[in-house]
Amino acid sequence: MTVQSLLRREHGMAMRMLAVLKKLLESVEDGTEGGTEDLESVLLVLEGYVDRCHHGKEERLVFPEVRKAGEGDMEVMVDELALDHGKAADLLRRMKEEVPSGPSFSKSDVEALEPLARSYIELMREHIRKENARLLPLCEAVFPEEASGSALRRMEALDEELLGPGRKGTLLEDLEKLSARYL
Ligand SMILES: [Fe+2]
Ligand SMILES: [Fe+2]
Repeated sequence: MTVQSLLRREHGMAMRMLAVLKKLLESVEDGTEGGTEDLESVLLVLEGYVDRCHHGKEERLVFPEVRKAGEGDMEVMVDELALDHGKAADLLRRMKEEVPSGPSFSKSDVEALEPLARSYIELMREHIRKENARLLPLCEAVFPEEASGSALRRMEALDEELLGPGRKGTLLEDLEKLSARYL
């Protein structure tokens, strides 16, 4: 495992949660009711696993190293990626405020949440594509295979520090459950 492959794997997980969020909101298009608990669960995975843990690691460990190693245009790219993280966190916070209060929801209950979710999904998909294409190839040079071990250990320690002990495992279990239910 390298830093690059770890980030790519986490991007795959994040993409799955974006697909679940999309499916959940589409499931009420034909008049059926959606489950509020599942919607809350998806937002918690996005908040914990994607925003706090994945973006946290990129901001604390990956971006600074890429900046250090890079020329002027890398600075611009990293600034842009960090800006995306801020926009995504803001959209997530606003979505959480619009979660319906009842145990189930219909299309009209998510009228305020839906456009925020659409913007969030579009922003994050584009962000991940950008990172896969431009950031991950740089990681190969910045974290060469022989130095990957110590960088990965720092990342693992950061997972615990950012989320609390064992929390990542619970979030991953929820991610698998939701994927199995909706994808
Ligand atoms: Fe990112
Ligand atoms: Fe990322």
